[in-house]
Amino acid sequence: MRATAALIAGILATGASAENYLGFNSGSTKADRSAKFKADFEAEFKTAQNLENAPGKFNAVRLYTNIQAYSQDDPIEAFEAAIGTDTKLLLGIWTSGTDSIDKELNALKKAVEKYGDKFTKLVIGMSIGSEDLYRVSETGIINKAGVGAGPDVLIKFINQYKKTFSGTGLANVPVGHVDTWDAWTNGTNKAVIDAVDWVGVDEYPYYENGKGNDIKNAGTLFDRAFNAVAGVVGSKPIWVTETGWPATGEKWDQAQPSVENAKYYWDEVGCRKLFNKVPTFWYNLRDSNPDNTMKFAITENLSTKPLFDLTCPTKFDTPTAAATSGTPAATGSSTGVAAPGSSSTSGTTTAASGNNTTGGSAQSSTSTPAGSGASMGKSLSAAAVGGLALVAGIFALF
Ligand SMILES: *[C@@H]1O[C@H](CO)[C@@H](O)[C@H](O)[C@H]1NC(C)=O
Ligand SMILES: *[C@@H]1O[C@H](CO)[C@@H](O)[C@H](O)[C@H]1NC(C)=O
Ligand SMILES: *[C@@H]1O[C@H](CO)[C@@H](O)[C@H](O)[C@H]1NC(C)=O
Ligand SMILES: *[C@@H]1O[C@H](CO)[C@@H](O)[C@H](O)[C@H]1NC(C)=O
Repeated sequence: MRATAALIAGILATGASAENYLGFNSGSTKADRSAKFKADFEAEFKTAQNLENAPGKFNAVRLYTNIQAYSQDDPIEAFEAAIGTDTKLLLGIWTSGTDSIDKELNALKKAVEKYGDKFTKLVIGMSIGSEDLYRVSETGIINKAGVGAGPDVLIKFINQYKKTFSGTGLANVPVGHVDTWDAWTNGTNKAVIDAVDWVGVDEYPYYENGKGNDIKNAGTLFDRAFNAVAGVVGSKPIWVTETGWPATGEKWDQAQPSVENAKYYWDEVGCRKLFNKVPTFWYNLRDSNPDNTMKFAITENLSTKPLFDLTCPTKFDTPTAAATSGTPAATGSSTGVAAPGSSSTSGTTTAASGNNTTGGSAQSSTSTPAGSGASMGKSLSAAAVGGLALVAGIFALF
């Protein structure tokens, strides 16, 4: 028994993403655009860890910026709240609309100096940028998604970050980038895949109008996009950095927000595909974007009793991923994944109002809608399949 445990621990230690983190996203401001402070983050992290019937411990959080709102370059107070609640941190650095990430790096340097390894040991990943490639893609431009950045800019900042923190407690933190699935499958962006340790994907079947985005089809749309990314990233681990279904808001093509549908999505995408299988940062525990009429929070007022029962079912409606990706019929169409994503340097998460991934109708400048249709039909690379099988196998042992 002990030998088995040691063996498993050894296997887990060899992979950067062998631990399948569970967490939520957290912007630096609240829904009224006021700053979040330590107590606000603490309340979020405590609720996340104590959610009734959760299928695991949600003790990780994804941040969009290292900078405390209302400050120039002070460390975000989420860091102190994370230290106090033992919450793992996927950090983010905002990289669009700027020639410099010096303020982000300064805030992080101050945190490393001030908190030392109490802080650095909690950092599980660093994302350089969020949906920057989507915003400069054809669809992002048509949709007026806002200022983005191309692969060269991201790679420059990735290198600058690595240089700045080499020889510090953050030196071994795996570096990634977060984007929509079709930004990753766009061959022009391949250099970004090569430059990162893990690939962060934001995936929202809800926003895939024109693709049959009825809730009953959400699991299949999710799998297609996920498999398309798996087909281009080789052995690099995929982290799902944003996904969710709104409980309230307007209908989006066939997609209907409701608590019932949010629960169905939690089951069919979260329980079936992600939780304890893929590092996952659900969208979301708490809404923070006043511009988005769809509300994604799974609970009200940070109550530990969510809007729906988080208990995972044992049977699912969605056809298995193998069947989906292996069936030619399922791979012939294109599907766009819209992303609420984040759209400001303050890291305020703004959910998206992406329409039409092919025609693209302009929404507000803060929206970060769907990725366009990258063509499906890419097969999973053998390495990706092997990696997934290995991870699945390890967890089957527990
Ligand atoms: C592919 O990526 C490049 C660079 O990020 C971008 O300029 C281009 O528009 C993208 N292609 C599409 C079809 O969006
Ligand atoms: C997408 O947009 C195009 C033109 O902007 C429009 O003709 C088409 O009906 C839209 N499709 C959906 C599903 O909204
Ligand atoms: C966006 O799509 C929704 C759902 O299909 C539709 O009702 C709405 O009119 C569209 N908006 C624009 C600007 O095309
Ligand atoms: C959440 O807080 C608001 C404002 O204080 C209140 O109106 C609402 O009833 C609360 N909801 C629940 C479920 O407690």
